[in-house]
Amino acid sequence: MKLQIINGPNLNLLGTREKNIYGDKDFIEHFKDLQSNFKNIDLHYFQSNIEGELINKIQEVGFEFDGIILNAAAYTHTSVGIGDAIRSITSPVIEVHISNTYSREEFRHKSFLSAHVKGVIVGFGLKSYDLAISSFID
Ligand code: DQA
Repeated sequence: MKLQIINGPNLNLLGTREKNIYGDKDFIEHFKDLQSNFKNIDLHYFQSNIEGELINKIQEVGFEFDGIILNAAAYTHTSVGIGDAIRSITSPVIEVHISNTYSREEFRHKSFLSAHVKGVIVGFGLKSYDLAISSFID
């Protein structure tokens, strides 16, 4: 099974950024752990701070991969374009968030993506990604 993880803006700073909210582990380290915990899955990782690059990646893998695990970060709350990209592809998408966006500022309660994805996993820290991968297996 081939799965693509896509992380949006500022998630390259995990481990450094707002540790009280996002924890102290960087994502490259977590990705290595995911690869060793899910050895049978062909896992790919892409991160960009640029909205169009996230859309390009969704289009690139979205007709071929078995699934996409997407944390669009701040673009979750603003991007009609990423929502449309999800609607345009055939691979199922799971939206994930590290923090519980519903317990934070009101602008984080709105997602332009949720209506178009297979499911949403919110608030389990980096474990949100593990749960998303497991959901494809089950
Ligand atoms: C986030 C939540 C977003 O509101 C925020 O802009 C992020 C990260 C999360 O994973 O908790 O950058 O997507």
